Amino acid sequence: MRTVKAAVIGTGFIGPVHVEALRRLGFVEVAALADIDREKVEQKAAALGVPKAYDDYRRVLDDPEIEVVHNCSPNHLHAEINRAILEAGKHCVSEKPLGRTTEETRGLVALAKEKPDLVNAVCFNYRYYPLCQHAKAMREAGELGEIYAIHGRYLQDWLFLDTDYSWRLDPELSGASCAVADIGSHFCDLVQYISGLAITEVLGDLATIHKVRKRPRGNVEAFAGKLLKPEDYEEVPITVEDYANVLFGLDNGARGMFNVSQVSAGRKNYHCFEIDGSKCAIAWNQEEPNELWVGHRERANEIVARDPSLLKEAARPYAHYPGGHPEGYPDGSKNLMLNIYRKVAGEDPSADYPTFEDGHRVMAVVEAILESHRSRQWTKVAY
Ligand SMILES: NC(=O)c1ccc[n+]([C@@H]2O[C@H](COP(=O)([O-])OP(=O)(O)OC[C@H]3O[C@@H](n4cnc5c(N)ncnc54)[C@H](O)[C@@H]3O)[C@@H](O)[C@H]2O)c1
Repeated sequence: MRTVKAAVIGTGFIGPVHVEALRRLGFVEVAALADIDREKVEQKAAALGVPKAYDDYRRVLDDPEIEVVHNCSPNHLHAEINRAILEAGKHCVSEKPLGRTTEETRGLVALAKEKPDLVNAVCFNYRYYPLCQHAKAMREAGELGEIYAIHGRYLQDWLFLDTDYSWRLDPELSGASCAVADIGSHFCDLVQYISGLAITEVLGDLATIHKVRKRPRGNVEAFAGKLLKPEDYEEVPITVEDYANVLFGLDNGARGMFNVSQVSAGRKNYHCFEIDGSKCAIAWNQEEPNELWVGHRERANEIVARDPSLLKEAARPYAHYPGGHPEGYPDGSKNLMLNIYRKVAGEDPSADYPTFEDGHRVMAVVEAILESHRSRQWTKVAY
């Protein structure tokens, strides 16, 4: 496969995850990093061995050797930077959520349609865990039967204390939603992808557990978590949710529910789903991703282990190690990047990866949840 050169904008938590995933593909060279913080971008480039470090993302777009640009900036910059990437004639790999509103995401979908030769991808990486692929293949083979219900949760604790602060709590930077857009977006994408169903209506109940938080006066790295002294912070009112319960309906009439929380002590990245079908039920948990539970009524339940020899044929390429050799979060990202770059390199024109259209559809669900919470009513999703 030919060598493809890429750049990553945003070098906080997820930017370096992209760098690592790309390096593991073997045919992608990370040629540049960009961040608004000059000191940080130079440090990260040195630590990660990336040759160029820019303190203005526009310089990446002017760099003729770069074909693919990854947008790992905070949410308020997703629409602006994604647009600029495509307009510069480069392939775009955006972090989720695709934008802050459907107005932004709809505009990006329209622009992407005008650029059919450029890849437009969104990082819903949980799809590409081997057992999520196996679950999808089970559904496609009819092994779940008719889907009755989908339920699950996505819980974290990095906003548990009122001294925890991030740009994700500022609606200007994050959008009108914190927890639902940040992690609920992953749940909604994953269960729709596996089930093949679309969420059509929602009833949302959102809560802001800490209505006032102590914002550190200096820079806050996401997930940094540290104890502060009174002189280190200022108190700020919080308007976005750190907890939500959502009921939903799917386009086959099936019912669903999920809750998201970033204030659940001890839950680090507890992202799990169950799908109840007429033939069996399945359940999977991101923190124990090497097992898929299959539930039966008339015989013993099963555990499918992430072993290539036990997986459906379509899921096998996503498992790179034998059973008993666990794979997890970095491997899901690697699998996603491999699909995207096989398309970029011209190796697989029909490669499977989430597009701007998928990012827009999830944002439509997020907006419907916000509207339902405001109106206290069931709300249709306006795609
Ligand atoms: N797919 C996933 O599993 C996953 C996980 C974490 C984060 N994310 C997404 O990735 C994005 C970034 O999250 P994070 O946790 O890495 O945040 P972060 O705060 O750790 O990092 C953001 C980086 O962007 C930089 N930045 C800010 N303004 C910039 C600008 N104008 N130009 C270039 N860089 C700029 C910041 O200096 C910082 O280094 C978010 O949208 C988030 O939703 C996705």
